[in-house]
Amino acid sequence: MGGFALLTCIAVLAFVCKEAQLADPLLLSRVLTVSFIAATCFLLVKHFIKVMVPLFLRANMCGRDINKRGTPAGERPIPEPLGLIPAAVYILVLCALHLVGDHNGDARLYTAAMACVTFMTLLGFADDVLDLKWRYKLVLPFIASMPLLVNYTGVTTVVMPPASGRLVDLGLGYYLYMSLLSIFCTNAINIYAGINGLEAGQSVVIGIFVLIHNALNINPTVPKDNIELLRAHHAFSMDMMIPFVAVTLGLLVHNWYPSRVFVGDTFCYFAGMTFAMAAILGHYALTLLLFFLPQIFNFLYSVPQLFGIVPCPRHRLPTFNQETGKLEAVKSHLNLVNLVLWITGPMTERALCVLLLVLQVVCCCGGLAVRGFVLTLISK
Ligand code: UD1
Ligand code: MG
Repeated sequence: MGGFALLTCIAVLAFVCKEAQLADPLLLSRVLTVSFIAATCFLLVKHFIKVMVPLFLRANMCGRDINKRGTPAGERPIPEPLGLIPAAVYILVLCALHLVGDHNGDARLYTAAMACVTFMTLLGFADDVLDLKWRYKLVLPFIASMPLLVNYTGVTTVVMPPASGRLVDLGLGYYLYMSLLSIFCTNAINIYAGINGLEAGQSVVIGIFVLIHNALNINPTVPKDNIELLRAHHAFSMDMMIPFVAVTLGLLVHNWYPSRVFVGDTFCYFAGMTFAMAAILGHYALTLLLFFLPQIFNFLYSVPQLFGIVPCPRHRLPTFNQETGKLEAVKSHLNLVNLVLWITGPMTERALCVLLLVLQVVCCCGGLAVRGFVLTLISK
């Protein structure tokens, strides 16, 4: 699985490089530099997680693998939240890129985005340590998005429908839209979780599709107004996404079934905030939501439990059947993980994770197709 993920990333990167070269040779050298930094980060994260595991265990920062309950693996403490390592490496990369990048000519917004990702990581870590209640989790991303909100002086228009090139001015509503996107992306990843590899896996898949979307936009097939600005927005997003996918892959190596580390809320919030910032400053938030289809469905399906209409247990995971070694759906746990299990019947945790990631890929392909369809309709 690891080899397959790595090969896919390399193939996507080759596609990004090809599009970058067609757009502007200078952009190609930027992509290659960022990719080189990202590859180094992958190795750093992979290595440092191994180094940090004993420290987390010594500090008693660990969780139990609920989906292996009743087996020796279920009794073993699993260090958590190791999402701290990719987040720390990633923030360092953002600092380094700040020195060399042009950030659409707006360094202030870039710094604000960096502050949001950093603040969100800190609050995620606090959540992991303090185990906050659901109602507090919901507001943390709003607090973390403050650096961007108070610094934002850019456009308040969105492209509606996605990819159409038609601008709709939201005015003050744009600020609400930015904080809602941050709240949604962070929590959406955090509640679509609990299966070895799922949190980091879905983030890698979404990150890859964001990169494909960026590559398609630096070199659009249909004529667009203000092509230079469009290119700058998507190049900026690529700067954020290439290292993000790399550090997340470094985490996934250790988090894949059977998990040797848990990612924690630290990672879920860090990943969600990174997507939100890249999409806000890259001006493609609606397209990003097309890549979040499983998460949107999971959220809507969870609403009765999230808002207390139906009792919500601390964990809404499937049950592990010790005799068969498979996970079984719990009907009263209203989330996509249990719904898929209920439809397919019992399966192993690993197979379930693979299936959910395939579903993510299919939905992201669907998202790209919808975007392409809208684009052709508009350009006619
Ligand atoms: C969210 C979900 C909760 C789900 C949990 C799993 C909602 C409202 N909350 O809560 O239903 O159970 O995520 O992450 O939907 N764990 C595993 N295997 C894994 C990953 C995590 O057993 O592969 C368990 C471990 O005990 C770990 C714990 O989940 O310690 C982490 O849960 P936490 O992130 O604190 O849960 P929430 O984000 O509050
Ligand atoms: Mg969580």
